[in-house]
Amino acid sequence: MAVTIKSEREIELMRESCRLLSIVHKEMEEAIRPGMSTKDIDILGDTLIRKMGCIPNFKNYHRYPASICVSVNDEVVHGIPSKHRILQEGDIVSLDAGLIYKGYHSDAARTHAVGKISPQAQQLIDVTKQCFFEGIKVAKAGNYLFDISNAIDAYATSFGYGIVRELVGHGIGTALHEDPQIPNFAQRRRGPKLRAGMTLAVEPMINMGAADVVWLDDDWTVVTEDGSLSAHYENTILITDGEPEILTLY
Ligand code: MF3
Ligand code: CO
Repeated sequence: MAVTIKSEREIELMRESCRLLSIVHKEMEEAIRPGMSTKDIDILGDTLIRKMGCIPNFKNYHRYPASICVSVNDEVVHGIPSKHRILQEGDIVSLDAGLIYKGYHSDAARTHAVGKISPQAQQLIDVTKQCFFEGIKVAKAGNYLFDISNAIDAYATSFGYGIVRELVGHGIGTALHEDPQIPNFAQRRRGPKLRAGMTLAVEPMINMGAADVVWLDDDWTVVTEDGSLSAHYENTILITDGEPEILTLY
């Protein structure tokens, strides 16, 4: 499938889809506290998305059983919410959410602290977020897609962190996953040229320890092989001739 260029009308729909998702993320962030279950977060996110008249795009995606991915500590992504998984002070929790508004998908993720966390965990969260911002500094029309990958890699690597290779960012629009794939690690090729009107989900997943990950027996939850903490930060962006527009920021 080719990379799609969105029309002005489609961009407006993407903007609204993403604006609504940014509100969902803000509400979930404010609800986080020790003692709540990961299922409580899923219920909150799912309820908000449906109240907005939107559809949670993760639900039933390749049979994913929930609306929000809630990944704790060494869980990298795709943690399945459970009423038995209780957040504890000192945990870090990654929330990944998306919705469909009038046929247009949005996708964003953030890692949050549960209560007071270690300075090391806070640094991992901050660096992972900055990886996204380093990546999008070079995300403009005329540059190449893998300029983003290279910028993310250089920043994460400078802290000695492991960059997850098995999962990547992606184009987004009338489908959750469109071309192109966007690796978070350095590439030898330059990839496709970026053009105004592309909408992309850029999503570094960064481990405090080694890059290696394994899948749990639930077929979804991805965890670090060495048990180290992992963080995730994702926004849906619009490529323009100048600075990219970050569509999912509140
Ligand atoms: N945000 C993730 C992605 O970009 C989550 C989708 S997996 C799902 O791929 F199954 F939970 F939907
Ligand atoms: Co995504």
